[in-house]
Amino acid sequence: MYRARLGGDLDKAILGYVSSAAEDAAIAEYDILGSQAHVVMLHEAGIMGRAHARRVLAALEGLKGRIVAELEAAAAGGGSAGEDVHEVVEELVAREAGAAAGGRMHTARSRNDQVALDVRMKVRDDIIGISGSLLDVIGALLDLAEKHAGTAMPLYTHLQRAQPGTFSHYMLAHADALFRDLERLDGAFERTNKSPLGAGPVGGTGLPIDRSRTAALLGFSGLVENSIDATSTRDFAAEFAAAAAILMTNLSRMAEDFVIWSSAEFSFLELSDGASSPSSVMPQKKNPDLLELTRGRAARTIGDLTAVLAACKGLATGYGRDLQDTKPPVWSAARAASGALAAMLSMLRGITVNGRAMGRAASGGGGGHIMALDVAERLVSGGVPFRAAHGIAGRLVREAQDAGMPLGRLDAARIGRAVAGTGADAGALAEAIRGLSAAGSLRGRTSRGSAGFAEQRRMAGERRASLAERRESAEIRRRGIDEALDGLADAVNGIAGPPGAATGRRKRRPAGKAPGRRRSIPVRED
Ligand code: ARG
Repeated sequence: MYRARLGGDLDKAILGYVSSAAEDAAIAEYDILGSQAHVVMLHEAGIMGRAHARRVLAALEGLKGRIVAELEAAAAGGGSAGEDVHEVVEELVAREAGAAAGGRMHTARSRNDQVALDVRMKVRDDIIGISGSLLDVIGALLDLAEKHAGTAMPLYTHLQRAQPGTFSHYMLAHADALFRDLERLDGAFERTNKSPLGAGPVGGTGLPIDRSRTAALLGFSGLVENSIDATSTRDFAAEFAAAAAILMTNLSRMAEDFVIWSSAEFSFLELSDGASSPSSVMPQKKNPDLLELTRGRAARTIGDLTAVLAACKGLATGYGRDLQDTKPPVWSAARAASGALAAMLSMLRGITVNGRAMGRAASGGGGGHIMALDVAERLVSGGVPFRAAHGIAGRLVREAQDAGMPLGRLDAARIGRAVAGTGADAGALAEAIRGLSAAGSLRGRTSRGSAGFAEQRRMAGERRASLAERRESAEIRRRGIDEALDGLADAVNGIAGPPGAATGRRKRRPAGKAPGRRRSIPVRED
């Protein structure tokens, strides 16, 4: 419908190539909301009369339930010949409302500000959804941490036993990483939640529009002011993809821990049957496919981030169609993050922790001499310089290794050999060594943030409190947008008539229903 200057239609093969109709299903509802806000503003600003506005708003409302099917038809080459959701919507509105009214909808805007708006609205909702899931996963990690604050297990570096620790400590470490993911998404949200609408193709308009009004109607906290910047940048999308890629990397690392710990060799954990996949041939298998796919999806998400950045880095400022291709990787990053979080939550809630196997390993069962640093620290407490203590403990480990026994069972002769010439008190050391235990080590481990039992309780308690605070602020943020969109619905109804009249009907959220679930955005992705 934009081809007046061009003779004839776009070549069919080229239409299929340049069209974004298929991926635009994910932003179709945002496109309609954005158009409604724009028309409300045009009317309020005296640019569009009530009769025209009413017809257009009615047509837009009526399109909500159909637009995805229309885009599917367009993508399949059987429906509208529009190149994207913006053109398809405008065409359908003009058909419904008549050219005299429908032909006014695109006054003082461009697809360039429109698509930037739609993507911002989708990313904004994706961030809200992913943040909610992140809070749930953090909650599940805290549940495990609280339950296992006293469950000893080895801590590893280089995947070799390092020090006695607690399972809780690992869960809290992953929770802290996810808290930072939440903060990154918060930052991305602040910068995404600005309206580009009204920037026009690149340089704005001479018509008396009110950009702040559309921004407020759509729940944005302000404007992407500069019209060149508003239409050109996708840095907010890159930032979201980066936050998703980092989040996926964190989840992937956690997944790898669970893969290792659930192996028969470790037997620290067992996934529930509902979280495990079978083998087509080996009847005994209980495979952690969800964890492996979390690693796989992390790889893909890193690719999504790369795709967005690579598309943007060489573009001349001002809209270029390359920007269209930043959408699918952003959708993909969102899908990966929300899918992984849902799967990990279910996995965490069903996990069985084998505290016995962990405890045995934490006490040096099966080798590893995990108490060596504790021995050195006992010597340091007795006045031996750390480097000398490190040497003595190292020799003790060698003696134990040669004798094929755990450190705690070394006899006096071997201990005497290890300390010979150092001036350390062999008798006292022998007694200390015999008293070694993982539990004792963890009772005495008091440094801030350490594996010690008391630290587990303190850290879990503090995280529990900040989880509650974060839930509250996420709720306030979500409610702010919901209320703005309810206001938009009221403004639409104010112009187009009450719900049930020709138009503008918009289901209000039933009282008591959780906000955020009200709007169901069609998630039909590439
Ligand atoms: N389909 C386009 C996209 O996704 C919309 C903007 C088109 N603008 C243009 N000037 N051709 O980016």
